Amino acid sequence: MSTDRLFIFDTTLRDGEQAPGFSLRTEQKLRLARQLEALGVDIMEVGFPVASEDDSRAVKLIAQEVREPVVAALGRCVPGDIDLVGDLVRHAARPRIHTFIATSDLHLEHKLRMSREECQRAVASCVAQARDYTDDVEFSAEDAIRSDMDFLCRVVDTAIAAGATTINLPDTVGYSVPSEIAVFFRTVMARVSDADGVVFSAHCHDDLGLAAANSLAAVLAGVRQLECTINGIGERAGNASLEEIVMATRVRRDLLPFDTRIDTTELFRTSQLLTELTGEPVQANKAIVGRNAFAHEAGIHQHGMLRDRRTYEIMSPEDVGVQSTLVLGKHSGRHAVGKRCEELGYELSRSELDRVYRAVIAMADRGKAAADQDLEEILQRTRPD
Ligand code: KIV
Ligand code: ZN
Repeated sequence: MSTDRLFIFDTTLRDGEQAPGFSLRTEQKLRLARQLEALGVDIMEVGFPVASEDDSRAVKLIAQEVREPVVAALGRCVPGDIDLVGDLVRHAARPRIHTFIATSDLHLEHKLRMSREECQRAVASCVAQARDYTDDVEFSAEDAIRSDMDFLCRVVDTAIAAGATTINLPDTVGYSVPSEIAVFFRTVMARVSDADGVVFSAHCHDDLGLAAANSLAAVLAGVRQLECTINGIGERAGNASLEEIVMATRVRRDLLPFDTRIDTTELFRTSQLLTELTGEPVQANKAIVGRNAFAHEAGIHQHGMLRDRRTYEIMSPEDVGVQSTLVLGKHSGRHAVGKRCEELGYELSRSELDRVYRAVIAMADRGKAAADQDLEEILQRTRPD
């Protein structure tokens, strides 16, 4: 398998921001957009302008300020939406219009009350309209995974013929599993005309906790753009998490030999900024960016880690921008406590180490793990002057 380029499409400021508890003010969105640029995303989707005037303002401002990544905004396959999005993203150095319509019968009949033919006509005219604004147009078939395959392929053909350059097929309700989504993408790509002339994209939701796994399975099937969010935020259970996808390609390069432009040392900082701006904490055991993602507390683990980090670490915390990771708690051994003290510059006698160790355990019994600062305090307290 040859190495290939994978485009990272971040939708934290659109799909992520529209989730309850994650709404941001315009200046906060701009701050996050600047950090996403530093992180190295290829495309950032920064709003759904028809939803509110605030969204429109933020899209325009970010389009004016962000220079390196493509700046995209979302609009339905409705003429008014396309004009609005087109008018806002034209301020970007590299603008993209992202337009979508549902293609599953469930959505067409019960949500849109539209026939398949009407849907197909809307796709043809709106994609062509979008191309009058920019030559970078993405088309998404909402609920693609649950759509009839023959009809979906006709819609994709229509979008490509009308000028779409990226075809995104979302698992809108997080229903798929890796083996199924791989077959799904292979089938569509084999059946539509000019599949080689466009970039196929996956957009997976996490309702079954499979969004990152499904995204990577889609890549192995030929997809070259992944839509994802920082900390995996998004509608309901969220979207595929950017940090998980990117680190999977980095750590398992043997199986996923794809290059991204992401500076992984900015991952933790980006995650923290999002948490700071929204006030929504990340779960402690969240992969890559959670507080415990690199914490080793069990004595046997710490002992192994001190000998060779590879015993319990598949990537180094520094790779994702995390600095200090050793947390001393109830399950830490004397060895780990002594080693950390040594690293902090303290040579301890056996009895001094006993006292420090007992203080760490007492602290853990009160429910608190000892970070470096706590250890310094214990050392000051327990050592004779
Ligand atoms: O989940 C979804 O289907 C979407 C599309 C609008 C891209 O977010
Ligand atoms: Zn979505």
